[in-house]
Amino acid sequence: MPFPKLGFAKRLLFFYGFVFIAVLLLTDWSLSRVLEKRELEQLQDSLTRQSILIREVASPLLERTLDLQNEIKKLAEGTGLRITVVNAEGTPLADSSETHETLANMDNHAMRPEIAAALKEQTGMSIRYSTTVKTRMLYVAVPIFQGEKILGVVRAAMPIARVDRILASARKPVMVTALLGILMVLAAGILFAGRLTARIRRITSVAERYAQEDWSEKILIDGRDELKMLADTMNKMASSLKTRIDDLENEKGKVATILTHMNEGVIAIGPRKQFVMANPTAERFFGFETKTVGGKGLIEVTRHPQLERIVDRAFEARKNLSEEIQIPGNIKKTFRVNVLMLPPQIREIGCILVFHDMTEIRRLENIRKEFVANVSHELRTPLTSIRGFIETLLGGALKEPATSEHFLRIMEEETKRLGRLVEDILTLGEIEQRATLLRKEKIDLALELSTVLERFKPRIQEKRIAVENRILGKSFVVSGDRDKVQQVLVNLIDNAIKFNKEEGKIVLSADQRAEGLAITVEDTGIGIPQGSIERIFERFFRVDKARSKELGGTGLGLAIVKHIMEAHGGHAVCSSTLGKGSRFTVFFPG
Ligand SMILES: Nc1ncnc2c1ncn2[C@@H]1O[C@H](COP(=O)(O)OP(=O)(O)OP(=O)(O)O)[C@@H](O)[C@H]1O
Ligand SMILES: [Mg+2]
Repeated sequence: MPFPKLGFAKRLLFFYGFVFIAVLLLTDWSLSRVLEKRELEQLQDSLTRQSILIREVASPLLERTLDLQNEIKKLAEGTGLRITVVNAEGTPLADSSETHETLANMDNHAMRPEIAAALKEQTGMSIRYSTTVKTRMLYVAVPIFQGEKILGVVRAAMPIARVDRILASARKPVMVTALLGILMVLAAGILFAGRLTARIRRITSVAERYAQEDWSEKILIDGRDELKMLADTMNKMASSLKTRIDDLENEKGKVATILTHMNEGVIAIGPRKQFVMANPTAERFFGFETKTVGGKGLIEVTRHPQLERIVDRAFEARKNLSEEIQIPGNIKKTFRVNVLMLPPQIREIGCILVFHDMTEIRRLENIRKEFVANVSHELRTPLTSIRGFIETLLGGALKEPATSEHFLRIMEEETKRLGRLVEDILTLGEIEQRATLLRKEKIDLALELSTVLERFKPRIQEKRIAVENRILGKSFVVSGDRDKVQQVLVNLIDNAIKFNKEEGKIVLSADQRAEGLAITVEDTGIGIPQGSIERIFERFFRVDKARSKELGGTGLGLAIVKHIMEAHGGHAVCSSTLGKGSRFTVFFPG
């Protein structure tokens, strides 16, 4: 905001200047009055006295007008006085400004106010313009007595101009002093006003910054007056405001930080179900951006009718609600939504929706359920078969030694299978719960691989599989649990043989990659269909249940591989082409 041209200090200055001049003029006027009155009185007094003196000279000469004229002229000479003598009828007998000859031209003076008064035995006085001497004059007239009788009048006159001159000379120093005073006061005023204006502007400009929330500057002005107090108070106010604002910002920042880093999605909606705010987690859950949805309805923002209905119910009942919803998408997600109704006093926000992502929990729950179902199923099958054979044997088959032996062999197989299954389940459970700490030591993977291969030699030969061991003779030392690592290699090679073709091939290799040391087991077997690859490491997952079972598998081998690798801080991956073969790689971290 620009400062006004005519600031208040200037206005004040103008006002006082005006008042000063008015007072000065008034003083001058009344002073002149007083002085003029006094001067005139003095002049009148002196004229009266002089008239009385002249009367003494004039009264014996009234009959001799020529002498009188001469005497009057003499008396007036050099005094500036005009002296006139008239007889009782008002006819001029002598006049200092005329000659004896011109005297006759003068008109009768009986009607002149001062003379008229003198003829009535008083001292006459009059101020008027004299046509004879062409100036304003003060006339004083005294009667000339002879006993009681008035013989004539002596009149003395003096131009008033003299009074004016006296007045002017008396006024001059007063006026000069007054003017000087005014000038000094004005100069002081200008200085003061300038300083005042500068200080006020300083306060104003800093205050303007405060208005824009810029607290960097303090109002620094000097002095010990009210302005200084104002500045100090404003400084105090600014610093307490700044503290308050900082505190608020801080609080806001804390709340924002908490909201931003929450795993839960939070959406606040207004009393008319309009969107108010959301944290980034909620934005991610529903795939919207807060800045584009402000003020829109909840349904427009989330596009989730079920959620809308839950919120409606909460609003109707004015009660908190908690329900599970699903959000469709690439991966269907499950959320528990808690609708928290706020008291109606809070005008801006009607309720808060808090979303917990339940997807992982639900998935794990499903896996667990499936696992239990699978385990019981896997256990029941061999048990049913064993019981069947026992019943058959007890039912008479025992008497036939050949049949009995055959049945007992199958039962032995089934029992082994049961044993293996229980073993696998226990291993898996152990690793999963991290119950067994890994007994880590330095192991050479090349060496371990050779040991494991040795164990499979009979089966490899039986299926006439060619093994290409590219690790042979090399050394790849990692830190790991020997038994567990051997288990990984056993499971992978077992699969590579089991799912291989007759006269197939197995390639074993190792190489150092960014993710760690990679051990790869590659086969030329039946391969895995694309859709099953991602599930291959799940417990009990088998591509072809019947076939795997025939081959004595329970579908736990790869799950064990995965968990052991993860326990080592590594991981396992699989790639495969159906009908051509599969490749399994395990990574030991660097
Ligand atoms: N090398 C492979 N070639 C083709 N399919 C494979 C291969 N390895 C595993 N699979 C498939 O993955 C499934 C799971 O393998 P996994 O090793 O976990 O179980 P399994 O071998 O059937 O039984 P287990 O290993 O418990 O005896 C197998 O049933 C099979 O369908
Ligand atoms: Mg297996």
